[in-house]
Formats: sequence, structure tokens, C-alpha cells
Amino acid sequence: MTALTLSTAAAPGLRADAIVIGVAKGAGGPLVAPGAEAVDKAYDGRLAAVLETLGASGSEGEVTKLPAPSGFKAPVVVAVGLGAEPEKDAGFDPEALRRAAGAAARALAGAKKAAFALPLAEAADAGVVAEGVLLGAYSFDAYKESAKDTKDGKGAKGNGKAPLAEAALLGGKPRDKAYKAAVERAAAVAEELNRARDLVNTPPNDLNPEAFAAVAQTAAKEHGIKVQVLDEKALVKGGYGGILGVGAGSASGPRLVKLSYTSPKAKKSLAFVGKGITYDSGGISLKPAGHNETMKCDMAGAAAVFAAVVAAARLGLEVNVTGWLALAENMPSGSATRPGDVLRMYSGKTVEVLNTDAEGRLVLADALWAASQDKPDAIIDVATLTGAMMLALGSRTYGIMANDDAFRSAVHEAAEESGEPAWPMPLPEHLRKGMDSPTADIANMGERMGGGLVAGLFLREFVGEGITWAHLDIAGPAFNEGAPFGYTPKGGTGTAVRTLVRVAERVALGDLG
Ligand code: BES
Ligand code: MN
Ligand code: ZN
Repeated sequence: MTALTLSTAAAPGLRADAIVIGVAKGAGGPLVAPGAEAVDKAYDGRLAAVLETLGASGSEGEVTKLPAPSGFKAPVVVAVGLGAEPEKDAGFDPEALRRAAGAAARALAGAKKAAFALPLAEAADAGVVAEGVLLGAYSFDAYKESAKDTKDGKGAKGNGKAPLAEAALLGGKPRDKAYKAAVERAAAVAEELNRARDLVNTPPNDLNPEAFAAVAQTAAKEHGIKVQVLDEKALVKGGYGGILGVGAGSASGPRLVKLSYTSPKAKKSLAFVGKGITYDSGGISLKPAGHNETMKCDMAGAAAVFAAVVAAARLGLEVNVTGWLALAENMPSGSATRPGDVLRMYSGKTVEVLNTDAEGRLVLADALWAASQDKPDAIIDVATLTGAMMLALGSRTYGIMANDDAFRSAVHEAAEESGEPAWPMPLPEHLRKGMDSPTADIANMGERMGGGLVAGLFLREFVGEGITWAHLDIAGPAFNEGAPFGYTPKGGTGTAVRTLVRVAERVALGDLG
């Protein structure tokens, strides 16, 4: 990952490949943002005019490269748009800073070192800029053999360019505790989030449930997290009919991983539950071509949960966090679960499987019930659960459902603070009867309309009595099929990691429930 430092150096004398500055969109044209005064001065105060002539407006995501003024050690200035100029006395929106830093870092792929002279009014700004840089510089090139650059011995780079190697945040107050803490937090979260992206991007022939569990085991040991892996035999013994039913058709057996991070100072406990379908073919209710090419992303919920637990451990949060990874591969075969089969779930309830493509709720049901046995103060599950949620909210916003209005709002607030677009969704009671089964306690499918909410209502039945629970359906934003934007790359995005970490932080501080 990109190495990050706080620096008190002045822009002109700095040895780097580029100096990044911010440009805001003002009423009368582009404005040079605070932090870049020395750069503007070197252009005789005419930088805004130069940028305007070059066609820059300061709009979000815009990147303009120009030669650095004479006397500068760095050859290039990269001006990145911050969007509308903030109101008088207000600072820049943290998410605008994050995205701008990310867009600049991405534009600097191939560079060794860049200095970021963006507006840092307070320590928190250094944190969001750091986060933007580290997330924006991400690239996944592990499988790009043809583009491997062997000259420097550094290996594969998809576009022939390595991610930005080093970033210095100018005006960063390296001796200020708050600044240091903000950057350290950003580094821990971004590093784990990027690891979650790697897991999502790893092709399903290399990441089956066993391989995912092995990755979790290694990381857990490294960070002092207790880990338990239930393999197929243990799942049979324990009666995990949902996870086993989904995994039945695959040559790679399912797993249930429990990660326990405990803090001696914890007053509260959280359980995070992730859908970990390492590949979703649909099973016997096979998905048609056009719907299965990106289904390696169906373990993004489990990847987010895994990353969040490791991040909580690295940050030493004063809250107990348990992560549950419900891992299975959904495949059709002679041993696969059929539409019409009835599964006996871990909770004891029976489920008639009407559609084997509604598999996420089956693995989550067992994991939610398992998580409930520890009686945590709250449970949050994360899942690429329904195409319906994607239709409802688009590809950048995830849906939040909950059995408690205050908790749903609190999770939504945490999402907003983290820069993750999310929106509250209801759990309308009348949709429950659509899942009535003539044979079993419940069917795994109900009405087509409101399919994301139906799935949420199904999950609710497997949450232990009296336990506060929220469900994040990240089917839309988990995997970016479009062009990169801000600090979001193509492919796995790491959605929900930052929300989960923020919820854990707030619970640790006692200002959430
Ligand atoms: N993994 C899919 C949901 C999904 C779709 C995630 C698109 C990301 C992008 C899930 O397992 C699924 O197949 N859901 C079905 C449920 C239906 C059969 C009730 C769906 O949404 O069509
Ligand atoms: Mn499915
Ligand atoms: Zn799925």
C-alpha cells in the first residue's frame, strides 16, 4: 500500500513527482483551495486564471495536470476538483476531500512520490485525505501476467503502472497527536478495506470457502483475534442446514468462520455477520448468462465483516466484536439442493427452498442464529442479497433494514460519517405472508415486488428474541462494474467496512445505544 507521511515541508523545495492541490468551484470560476498558497504564489497569484484557461472548473473528480512553476523541485502540479466552494466559515465537506484525494492518487499511478497540498483545517481533514489517497491508489493486478513490469522487479501492474508509492500530506502537523491518530486510523481502515477488495476481486477458482477461511485464520492470528472454523463435518454435527444446503452442490465444501476480537475494557458487544458466497451460479435455479459474470462478488459481505473485525482489533477499540463469515459456493450438481427441498436450519425452523438462487438468506439465517446465541448487544449483517435492492437504490447506495428504528438511524448516521451512501428501507409486515409455505415453516422466496424487503423479513425470523439487528443489503455498491470514480476503483469496492468500523467506534465511545 502507498506509504503515507505528515509533512511540514514547503511545496517548492519538495522532491516529488507531483504536487497535488485543490480547486473549488466558485461563482466566478475555479478557486485555488487553501493549502496551495505557496503554489499559487509561485505562479504570481495567477493559478486560478491559468486553471480556467486550461478548462478547469473545480467540479468534483476533475483532474488537471500542469507544469510546475520554475524553481519547484517537483515537475508537475495536479489540480483536483473539490466541487462547490464551501459556505463562509464552513470547511470542505469531508467526502469531497476524500474523493478528490482519491481521484488524484489514481491519476498518479506510476509515480513514486506525490505531495498533497489539500486544505487541512483540522486533524479530521488529514484523516479523510489519507483515507482518500490510500483507497484511491488501490489497484488489483495480481492476475495481469501480460502487463508485468519485470524491469524494476516489482511485478504486475495492470495498466503498466504501479500504484502511487509514497504520499506526503503537506500542512499535516506531524507532532500533533490528533493529526497522527487520524492518519493512523485511516491507514488501518484503508489497509483492511483494500484487503477486502482483494478478496472480492480474487477469482472464485482461487477463493473457495476453504481458502477464504484460511485467509481469515492467518489474519486473525496476526492480530490476536480468536478464530474458529466449522468445516463440513462440524456443520453437519451442529445442524447448520442452511449453510450445508447451499453448499451441497459444490465440490468445495462450506465453512462457518467465527472471529472474536475482545477488549478488556469493553462494555458492549457487537456481532457482524457476512454473506460469503464465493460464487453464486444460482444453483439448480441457474442464473442465465449476463447475470453470473460478476458473481464472484457474492462474498463481499463476508469480506467487509472480516476487514471490519481486523480493523477494530488494529485500532484497539474498547468493544467486543465478533465476526461471522457464512461461506459456501452455490453450484448446480447431482448433490445440489433442489427447488422443493426442505432444509432444517440451525435455529430448528424448516425452510422450503423454492428458488436455489435465494441462497444468501439461507446461509445468513444459520449465521444470524449462531451469532444470537452469544446474546450480543446488537447484530449487523452485510450481504449482496438482492437484485431488487439494486433496482431500488442503484449501484452506489446500499439499503438498511432493522428491527429497531433508532438502531437503523444510528447505522445510517455511521454510514454518512464514513462517506458510504446508504438509505433506510422498511420491513412491511404484509410481505411476510408471501413466504408462507404449505410444507415448511417458511419458504425462501415471497412476492417479487419489494424483493429486498422480503429478504430482510426472512432474515428477521432468524435473529434471537430481543436482539437489536440491522441488515445492510449491499448488492448495488459492493462491486463497481463502471468506471472508477473518486476513491472507488473498478471491481470490489469494500463497501460497508467503514460503516461497521464507525458503528464499533461509536459503541465503544458509548454514544450509540
Ligand atoms: N447474489 C444475488 C443478488 C445479487 C444480484 C447481488 C446482483 C449482486 C448483484 C442473490 O443471491 C440472488 O440471486 N438473489 C435473487 C433472489 C430471488 C431469487 C428471490 C435476486 O435478487 O434475483
Ligand atoms: Mn443467488
Ligand atoms: Zn447470492
